[in-house]
Amino acid sequence: MERWVPLFPISASPQADRVDHLLYFLIIVCGFFALLIFTLIIFFSVRYRRSRHPVAEPTQKSLGLELFWTAVPFMITVVMFTWGSKVYMDGETPPRGAQDIYVVGKQWMWKVQHPEGRREINELHVPEDTAIKVTLTSEDVIHSFFIPVFRMKQDVVPGEYRTLWFRANRPGTYHLFCAEYCGTNHSKMIGSVSVMRVDEYQAWLAGANDMQPEEAGAKLFVAYDCINCHGTGQQKRAPTLGGLYGTYVLLADGRRVLFDEEYIRSQLMDPGSWRVAGFEADMPLFKGQLTEEQIIDLIAYVKSLTPGALR
Ligand code: CUA
Repeated sequence: MERWVPLFPISASPQADRVDHLLYFLIIVCGFFALLIFTLIIFFSVRYRRSRHPVAEPTQKSLGLELFWTAVPFMITVVMFTWGSKVYMDGETPPRGAQDIYVVGKQWMWKVQHPEGRREINELHVPEDTAIKVTLTSEDVIHSFFIPVFRMKQDVVPGEYRTLWFRANRPGTYHLFCAEYCGTNHSKMIGSVSVMRVDEYQAWLAGANDMQPEEAGAKLFVAYDCINCHGTGQQKRAPTLGGLYGTYVLLADGRRVLFDEEYIRSQLMDPGSWRVAGFEADMPLFKGQLTEEQIIDLIAYVKSLTPGALR
């Protein structure tokens, strides 16, 4: 594709190709009608100019013509809508079993955390032909995580988790941008995405002995005394957390909420709004005490806990 349209960035994922094909379709359809309309305007202006037709004549009604030019554009826009929503929905929904990577944006850098342990800044290494789900948050202001070769862009908002996913299919090193003005050095908040063959990626992961998030989370769990209430012996004060991830929790106000990353984060940052049914005390407030990376570590640890046992 990129050979005959050098204006477009190259494509490095199947989703990027799908976005491009949709865009080409839109450009061709719009271009065709723009040309058709301009040509007809000029043609009719000449043919029915005033000097040849000094007196206006009434036009005749044509039901067939009206149906034709209502039905045809309608069909074309239905095609645009269904095709566009399919591409959009597939791009928004990470496939099951996608590999997690966590990214924290801050003025003015991208901090990346791999579940296997490696951490990196302004660089993102990913394996080829593997679905990658990136979970993003910000430590300060709104940023936007943008990888043109995957045609993927996601706002990175403080206080919440956003996700984006891709399956890279072309090894190489590509641009990573911040696409939302976020202060003086916004334009320097750039980096690179390296798509590697799976074996190279495994070797790269093993190339540093950073602590795994799960392991770092286990330490924080003790250091911040979470263990005192959530330990197995204290079931009246707080739920034990093993096996809860991915299940639904009943709150004191009657809501049933999914115990997921966003939920764990909310319990740490705003426990008052998330009181769990059957427990009197709120969680202590950890707002301002934990960095976004520490929260990600804690989440990794809670995710790893198996039912019944707090390791
Ligand atoms: Cu971060 Cu612009």
